Amino acid sequence: MSSRPLSPPPRLAKTAARLFSDRFGAAPRWVVAAPGRVNLIGEHTDYNGGYVLPLAIDRHVVVAGGPAAGSEIRLQAYSAALDRSVDIRLDGSDAPGEPSWANYLRGIVSAFCQRGLAPPSLNAVILSDVPIGGGLSSSAALEVATATLLEAATGARLDPWDKARLCQRAEHDFAGVPCGMMDQLTSVLGDETGALLIDCGSQDVRVVPFGDPDVEVVICNSNVKHALADGFYARRRSECADAARLLGVSSLRDATPDMVEASGKIADPTVRRRARHVVTENLRTLAAAGHLEACEFAKVGALMYESHRSLRDDFEVSSTELDVLVDIARELGEANGVLGARMTGGGFGGCIVSLVRSKHVETVATRLERDYAARTGNTATTFVSRPTRGAGLIEPAAMA
Ligand code: GLA
Repeated sequence: MSSRPLSPPPRLAKTAARLFSDRFGAAPRWVVAAPGRVNLIGEHTDYNGGYVLPLAIDRHVVVAGGPAAGSEIRLQAYSAALDRSVDIRLDGSDAPGEPSWANYLRGIVSAFCQRGLAPPSLNAVILSDVPIGGGLSSSAALEVATATLLEAATGARLDPWDKARLCQRAEHDFAGVPCGMMDQLTSVLGDETGALLIDCGSQDVRVVPFGDPDVEVVICNSNVKHALADGFYARRRSECADAARLLGVSSLRDATPDMVEASGKIADPTVRRRARHVVTENLRTLAAAGHLEACEFAKVGALMYESHRSLRDDFEVSSTELDVLVDIARELGEANGVLGARMTGGGFGGCIVSLVRSKHVETVATRLERDYAARTGNTATTFVSRPTRGAGLIEPAAMA
């Protein structure tokens, strides 16, 4: 939650504070951070009222902010990654527009204003080490970091679900992506002791401890970017809604594999495959959470491979590059320390996530990158992440 100070602070915090001082001539009053996330399993289930099992990762969007002088009430935000600044009116009157990265900020400002929480004039510097377009929720982290800064600047404290919902709404209305809740909620609620089993229907969240020092979460970025706003995501959502309607349930969470396969109910084979993915993925996610808790990593891994197959063949959101990476991981197999792998996030590019025995991590990373280059001509980048805590303010003392 935003009231909990983050300690240790993300790597980028000191740099953000220094850039802010250089640019605006005074130290920032607040430095906030929001993590990206990787989803272990439970893909395209959140907007179907289903189950997801993500963890917040040690990659953050950091924002340094402070009050601004002048008569105009506005937020001047500088993105260090893009070396670009934007000016946003703080009365919530800005519509979505160019540059598009600023839409995440505009959306959050607008949502705060709608609640009567108009912020005072602000300067801000934004830094991020969440890969952009990698399926690791760089946009949700930017939304949640901005909301955390505005909480600090207005003195408001939003309830975590409410905050995640506000950020999700900003993404719908200002970025045009009809996303579910998983990304924003994980960035808000992340826990350093484990993954979050989120029931997106009942809104129940349980931390599934994941602290085995012998197993690492290895993330490998295909460096092929996806674009969820290009219509694929919205199409999948509406296919799922069609399937639920045909099955007579309010969401696919309430459907079973037998209902989906029952002859005649869903005549369109494409819609049937979409529904099959969702109902089987929900079962896999619940099973995986149980195995993770019991430290049965090979069983979690087997479910991850199965999830990938379902996303590739039934939901059709994988890509050649993601399939190649998962194939390499599977070929390495348990003998080389790989317990399981799958694409993670919305799809159409981005990253795979794998569970790897610690002592094999370096060789696995080398092999993934080398074989991927040989098979696709592209360059992959690999990193390891432990679970991390959700968004918050960074105590000034922690940065000294
Ligand atoms: C994107 C969306 C999430 C979720 C995933 C797929 O990351 O933002 O809400 O639907 O895709 O699981």
